[in-house]
Amino acid sequence: MSDEIIFTPEFTKRADQICANYPVKRAAVLPVMRLIQEEHGAISPDAELEIADYFRIPPADVKELMTFYTLFYSKPKGRCHIQICRTLSCSLRGAGDLIQYLEDKLGIRSGETTEDGQFSLDQVECLGACEIAPMAKINQDYIGPLTKEKLAQFLAKYYIGKTE
Ligand code: FES
Repeated sequence: MSDEIIFTPEFTKRADQICANYPVKRAAVLPVMRLIQEEHGAISPDAELEIADYFRIPPADVKELMTFYTLFYSKPKGRCHIQICRTLSCSLRGAGDLIQYLEDKLGIRSGETTEDGQFSLDQVECLGACEIAPMAKINQDYIGPLTKEKLAQFLAKYYIGKTE
């Protein structure tokens, strides 16, 4: 992705259309970043520079957005992206054990992707679904309350052969 030009003439036209919906161009940074991520699976460091250039803002501003919002990634995630909430309600109900379980099962640490690109695991802050704690966002679905057994079933569905 690093050699790929994001702001092609066609993409620039689409970004311009998004910007036209806002009183100032800079207010459209997040929607444009979201579009890039949807289309490319991630926002690489080179793409960050292109974004800064397009919006005429310092690259550090784009970097801040990248690090603040967990929905932006610098590398594409696996086909199954598991985001485990680690905030208070989920933590008190065993999120830490679930994270450890997933790291052991998948053979990766939080923040990593399995070699085959099947799974990515991340720890995130409260996803606003505390009533189903401990919970995870798996791709677009909110799932909880989670147990190791439920996770094992889930992994088996996606990754038969690597689970007990
Ligand atoms: S604390 Fe986990 S969803 Fe709110």
